[in-house]
Amino acid sequence: MGYLRLKQPVALPPPDDDKRWKIIDVTMRRNGYSGHALIETLHKVQDCFGFLDDVALRYVARSLRLPLSKVYGVATFYHLFTLKPQGEHTCVICTGTACYIKGANDLVDGVHERYHAKPGQTTGDHKLSVLSARCLGACGLAPAAVVDGKMLGKQAADALLAEIEKAIE
Ligand code: FES
Repeated sequence: MGYLRLKQPVALPPPDDDKRWKIIDVTMRRNGYSGHALIETLHKVQDCFGFLDDVALRYVARSLRLPLSKVYGVATFYHLFTLKPQGEHTCVICTGTACYIKGANDLVDGVHERYHAKPGQTTGDHKLSVLSARCLGACGLAPAAVVDGKMLGKQAADALLAEIEKAIE
C-alpha cells in the first residue's frame, strides 16, 4: 500500500553569505516556515539588520511562501518596523547587551557628534542613515557595527568614523 509522504518545508538559500540570515532562518524553522511566523520573522530581521529592505522582504516571503504584497503590507503597516532608510549609506550600530557592555554607546555618541544623526535618523544631506540593531549575531566581536553591509567588529569610535568616511567618499 502506498503512503503519502508530506513534504517538509526546507530552508531556502539565503540572499548572501551574511551569517545573520542563519539567525533569521532559525526563527522561521522553529515555526515550521509557517506564514503565521511573519511578524516574528520581520522583528528578527530588524533586530539583526536594523531595518527591512527589499532583499530581506523577498527572502522572507519566499521562505514562508507568502505573497510579497502581503509581506510588504505588514512591514509598512506596523510602525515598529523600519524600512530601509533614505540615506545613500547606512551605518547600523549594535546596541545589544554584549555590545552595550563593550561600549556601543561610545560608537553612537561618536557618530552623533560627527554627523549629527542618532539611530533612526538620516543626515540632512541624505548621505548617511544611522540605525541600531539588537544583535548583529557577532557578539564575540562586540562592539560591532555594519557600514553599507560590511561587518565591523571590536570597533572604537575613531575606527568606525574612519570606515564611514571611507564609505561616503
Ligand atoms: S549584541 Fe551586538 S552583536 Fe550580539
